[in-house]
Amino acid sequence: MDYDAIVLGAGGAGMMCAAVAGQRGARVVLIDHNDEPGRKILISGGGRCNFTNIAATADRYLSANPHFAKSALGRYTSQDFLALVERHGIAWHEKTLGQLFCDGSARQIVAMLHDECAAGQVAWRLGAPIGAIDHADSRFRVRVGDGWVSAPALVIATGGPSIPKLGATGLAYDLARQFGLKVVEPRPALVPLTLPGEEALFRALAGVAIPVVARAGKARFAEAALFTHRGLSGPAILQVSSYWRHGEAVAIDFRPDAGAGWLLAAKRARPRATLAAVLDLPGRLAEALAARIGIGELGAATDRALAEAERQLADWPFRPNGTEGYAKAEVTVGGIATAGLSSRTMGARSVPGLYAIGEAVDVTGWLGGYNFQWAWASGWAAGQAIAEARS
Ligand code: FDA
Repeated sequence: MDYDAIVLGAGGAGMMCAAVAGQRGARVVLIDHNDEPGRKILISGGGRCNFTNIAATADRYLSANPHFAKSALGRYTSQDFLALVERHGIAWHEKTLGQLFCDGSARQIVAMLHDECAAGQVAWRLGAPIGAIDHADSRFRVRVGDGWVSAPALVIATGGPSIPKLGATGLAYDLARQFGLKVVEPRPALVPLTLPGEEALFRALAGVAIPVVARAGKARFAEAALFTHRGLSGPAILQVSSYWRHGEAVAIDFRPDAGAGWLLAAKRARPRATLAAVLDLPGRLAEALAARIGIGELGAATDRALAEAERQLADWPFRPNGTEGYAKAEVTVGGIATAGLSSRTMGARSVPGLYAIGEAVDVTGWLGGYNFQWAWASGWAAGQAIAEARS
């Protein structure tokens, strides 16, 4: 079967790209080995899909080239996606920090993208394993099941390897290498961190959640942290995990809202109180921190010791021994190197007609709707370019 474009991967990026190209007149086939499209959309945002963030600018993304995402994010914005959501009558709300969610179900977003593809007369090949792919005489040929499809444009939209049980694979990287594109080393991101045995004290606090400022290198996030049986999780930790490298520390400020000198002031006001009592943290955590610092009654501690304790509490170093890996990672950082792609079209500079979009590319957003916005924006850019190239 001959088409104008073959889109590999029916996730958010692939569906957006197929719909945009199809509605502008291109004959598009969308292929996925899963039986249903958008499985990550369906489970995202606790089933309500945090479908965008109103603050989705390039500085909220990690990439070897921090400027790469600007063009696509600027041409298809969170307001554009919101307008689409509203055209489809999907009710939504802002939860926090600019994060927009469906009031109802993430299924509405998948149904919307499905309808948009239908409006573009996109052909579907679901439950279809992708076989060999070749490129000759300016056409790409993809083996799907028992047959072949061919087109002058091929879009890699198969995402990253995060959450294999949802169908995620490293196909995007294999294809990139096949076509001579570089891959920035992928690693799990937005992922819980694990703590080594000597930090068992903190693992014993599993279930305790608190607002903190977490820091890895220069990245700082003021959100909740959660102690788990294996280590640390919660939004603040997931955010810093994308920046964290093996061997580095993650620092936590346990009292981000306390002003300088708060512990000395507490000593003056309540000399008989214990450090654990004035920490204003959940009891088990407060006891664990005070025991590690080695201070009981405030009045019995020197001012110097309290100043040092305050410093420790504001910059508590954890040394994770790893992450919970791709099985638990919401995204993959790294991917197809942007250096080989046009930031306007997502097209490969060295292989005319080849495009890469979404999470497959070395652009990774913060937690909070940024990754879907990148999927929509990069998919839109490629869809538009495919239609333009045809006309
Ligand atoms: P995506 O991974 O969605 O799609 C790739 C498609 O390619 C899949 O359908 C897959 O089956 C297919 N595929 C892969 N390999 C294949 C192969 N070998 N052969 C055939 N098909 C193949 N982001 C956000 O902004 N807000 C949120 O609320 C959340 N929540 C969230 C929760 C959880 C649990 C996860 C795991 C992730 C999120 N994310 C998120 C991240 C978000 O889901 C992710 O960044 C996007 O889905 C990426 O979209 P893509 O279309 O690029 O890839």
